[in-house]
Amino acid sequence: MRLAVTDRCNLRCTYCMPENVQYVKKKELLSFEEMYRIVQLLSTMGISKIRITGGEPFLRKDISTFIQQINQLEHIEQIHMTTNGVLVGPHLTNLKRMGIQSINLSLDSINPKRFYEITRRNEFDKVMETFNALLEMGMPLKINMVVMANKNEEDIIPMMELSKDHPVAVRFIEEMPFNGSNSQKPMLALNYRQIIERIQTKYHSLLKLKDGANSTALNYRVKGFKGSFGVIPAFSRTFCGTCNRIRLTAQGMLKTCLYDEGVINLKKIIRSGTDDEEIKQLLLKAFNNRPANGFEAEAKRTLVSNSFESMSTIGG
Ligand code: GTP
Ligand code: 5AD
Ligand code: SF4
Repeated sequence: MRLAVTDRCNLRCTYCMPENVQYVKKKELLSFEEMYRIVQLLSTMGISKIRITGGEPFLRKDISTFIQQINQLEHIEQIHMTTNGVLVGPHLTNLKRMGIQSINLSLDSINPKRFYEITRRNEFDKVMETFNALLEMGMPLKINMVVMANKNEEDIIPMMELSKDHPVAVRFIEEMPFNGSNSQKPMLALNYRQIIERIQTKYHSLLKLKDGANSTALNYRVKGFKGSFGVIPAFSRTFCGTCNRIRLTAQGMLKTCLYDEGVINLKKIIRSGTDDEEIKQLLLKAFNNRPANGFEAEAKRTLVSNSFESMSTIGG
């Protein structure tokens, strides 16, 4: 389960949200009590792994207490987090106590100028500090780079080099049209095959690694490198057949696919006093009606304009 704990962010990545993003009022976001209730219920239905996402999770006040609480739930076995890294510093010593087992760090360029152009904020140094600190403390680490034609193509090889000396997994992600505006047509300039080809031109001895059963990434390693790399066909959607993820948005919509428009408004249901048993039945029905793949989910959408919602509300 991927849990977006806030839609707020301290960066403004161009592929994710517009500079002048309009946030909803705080009361439209799920409270910790509401999130806890939903996670607890889902944990009794088979959910054992939670990925905390956002927006930027550390912008949510008291997030560490909340994570500690869900970590105490009997059936929750794994908690992971996807973060932009800017605000991680003060929490470093506390991550293990929270129960966070690994971190995925969003980093689209290791060139300060390009980092600024993409994120529109001057936070490169802080993210690199976090990267180094996490490595030093031995936290399992993945780097997420959204690959964009003419924007950060030059970063592909330098990013690969991060996996040479460090035990990190660098993942090259196809750009999706979830940038909070409808100015961008849903088409892809650089797909996962083209990304692999680029990498192959430079590194000839790529070893294919075994991918996890429900992995979104196709994973490889360059012979002799400490870390690995992967490509995520997020737009090509080649992995839908093995997808077992559900999502809860910061505003309480349940999604059974990243590309659907939300299948149950859990916030509304909870706030109208529905009991757990009834919610469970609704959840089961939604799971049984999962679309076969992201293309079917997209085709079923009714709110066409909404198809360009910001990734920060969905949680990635
Ligand atoms: P797990 O392997 O599930 O723990 O997560 P992850 O490592 O894939 O999580 P992360 O938050 O780092 O996501 C990496 C990228 O994969 C993001 O751009 C996600 O939006 C994308 N992604 C994750 N799940 C899906 C999915 O179900 N469909 C699509 N199309 N993309 C996904
Ligand atoms: N396309 C692909 N990936 C995206 N992410 C955010 N917006 C997009 C998009 N439009 C990625 C971020 C983050 C992950 C959760 O989702 O890079 O690492
Ligand atoms: Fe913030 Fe992540 Fe969106 Fe960038 S991708 S603006 S870091 S939520």
